[in-house]
Amino acid sequence: MVQVKSALAAGVLLASAAYAVTPVVVDGADFVNAVSGARFQMIGVAYQPGGSAGYNPGSGTDPLSDEAQCLRDAILMQRAGINTVRVYNLDPMIDHTPCMSIFNAAGIYMVLDVNSPLPNESLNRAAPWESYNEDYMNRVFQIVEAFKSFPNTLGFFSANEVINEESDPSVPSYIRAVTRDIKDYIASHSDRTIPVGYSAADVRPLLADTFNYLSCNLEASAESKMDFFGLNSYSWCGDATFETAGYNILMEDFSSTTVPIFFSEYGCNEVEPRTFEEVGSIYSTPMTGVFSGGLVYEYTEEDNEYGLVTINDDNSIDLSQDYVNLMDQFNQIDLTALTQANSTATNLEAPTCESSMITSNLTNSFDIPERLSEISDLINNGVGGTWPTGTTEVTNTAEVATVRNPDGSELTGLELRVLPDDESNLPGENVSGTTGTAGPGTSTPSSTGTSSGGGSSPTGESAASSSKVNVDVLVLAALALGVWAQM
Ligand SMILES: *[C@@H]1O[C@H](CO)[C@@H](O)[C@H](O)[C@H]1NC(C)=O
Ligand SMILES: *[C@@H]1O[C@H](CO)[C@@H](O)[C@H](O)[C@H]1NC(C)=O
Ligand SMILES: *[C@@H]1O[C@H](CO)[C@@H](O)[C@H](O)[C@H]1NC(C)=O
Ligand SMILES: *[C@@H]1O[C@H](CO)[C@@H](O)[C@H](O)[C@H]1NC(C)=O
Repeated sequence: MVQVKSALAAGVLLASAAYAVTPVVVDGADFVNAVSGARFQMIGVAYQPGGSAGYNPGSGTDPLSDEAQCLRDAILMQRAGINTVRVYNLDPMIDHTPCMSIFNAAGIYMVLDVNSPLPNESLNRAAPWESYNEDYMNRVFQIVEAFKSFPNTLGFFSANEVINEESDPSVPSYIRAVTRDIKDYIASHSDRTIPVGYSAADVRPLLADTFNYLSCNLEASAESKMDFFGLNSYSWCGDATFETAGYNILMEDFSSTTVPIFFSEYGCNEVEPRTFEEVGSIYSTPMTGVFSGGLVYEYTEEDNEYGLVTINDDNSIDLSQDYVNLMDQFNQIDLTALTQANSTATNLEAPTCESSMITSNLTNSFDIPERLSEISDLINNGVGGTWPTGTTEVTNTAEVATVRNPDGSELTGLELRVLPDDESNLPGENVSGTTGTAGPGTSTPSSTGTSSGGGSSPTGESAASSSKVNVDVLVLAALALGVWAQM
């Protein structure tokens, strides 16, 4: 509760900065909006253009480094109804202010992985004691610094799919150690609480134990408890059902959760085009009694063929039928039910950790690895560097790329809708773009968003293909944060 109150105050202050979404906080088993108290559920997508090759330290590029690309993609995500984006491999040395500001203006939260597949940038599942070192934690804290000042930073994943059949039994204790260190770093260096959680592979024999181990209350190391749990699950394919997809089993496994749970990846592609029938289940009862939504894998088409859109060499975009189908599913969500606060869920307390909770080969010891003194120094002194101070105003909002529907017709009039303070995006509410004969430069809101018929635009140019994105620094935002930091 103390956390919620301080986040409430921070939210109010941040709201006076530029077009800021309100921070989301964890309250028991729910995410809630820190100002309105409304429940928050993720309507999300994974975003890693270029796959893991899109991250290449020293090259100056990562998925959130290119302003024009972020504007192009944020417009299409906002149109589809997305309110959360997950990004995996990030370079803390890049200034992500322009991209984070664009997503913030669109009312889209970001949940960010602190790790990458490169050496010393994640826990080694075979020998976690080797990888839990100063160099690794230095990178992790740099990611925190690089994103802590943006109000739309919803959370950090301390690890992704590290526990599986091949992992050393001690891995869960190291995940708790990393989680503890990140949370302690945030407590020392951030103006507000930012949740930290784990993203699990769907290895059913280990799932309940993983969840129990990471979410229980440990008096000796309270900070090592994860704040939320993400599950990467592809068990719903085609026209599966709640039962055949095993969602009923997940509901049983997690029915007593005391932290928010969501699908940190979903969207089986064995049957194409994907129809995303699971959306109807995920965003209605009984699922919403346990889950807080999910993130579809993934925005861009890569080698593994999960894309909602294809990015062409000329930067133009082809929407897939999957994109249209997903948007149609999102448009059917009962938004009022989605945001209803649930006092039972927000009043839950975590159970105390007990060895008997663990029945698989995972360790049942709750001795969390001690922090090296070098890592303590990093937490005490902070990691050096120049870091962003917050979002800036977004002034250029017209789509910069040519976008085509699945039938090849052009989608014109696309634009970023800059939301008022304290709002986040919802399906059907901030939709731009029209298909058909409307010429470039028009901006007709459309709530249908489907792609049937219509001739393609004769010019082949989008509404604003020549305009460059230009973000002005809003000093006020920095000032507001500075004032807050003094309090
Ligand atoms: C990883 O970090 C450790 C300890 O901080 C260091 O000794 C080692 O050289 C690093 N390995 C790589 C591949 O950078
Ligand atoms: C409220 O939360 C409780 C505890 O998580 C859950 O069992 C119940 O289904 C939720 N109610 C609704 C309407 O979602
Ligand atoms: C658990 O460990 C035993 C003995 O090492 C092994 O035979 C078994 O396959 C393991 N089970 C799992 C689920 O990893
Ligand atoms: C976006 O949708 C919300 C909710 O309907 C509405 O209040 C807001 O005015 C819309 N913003 C824009 C810029 O269209």
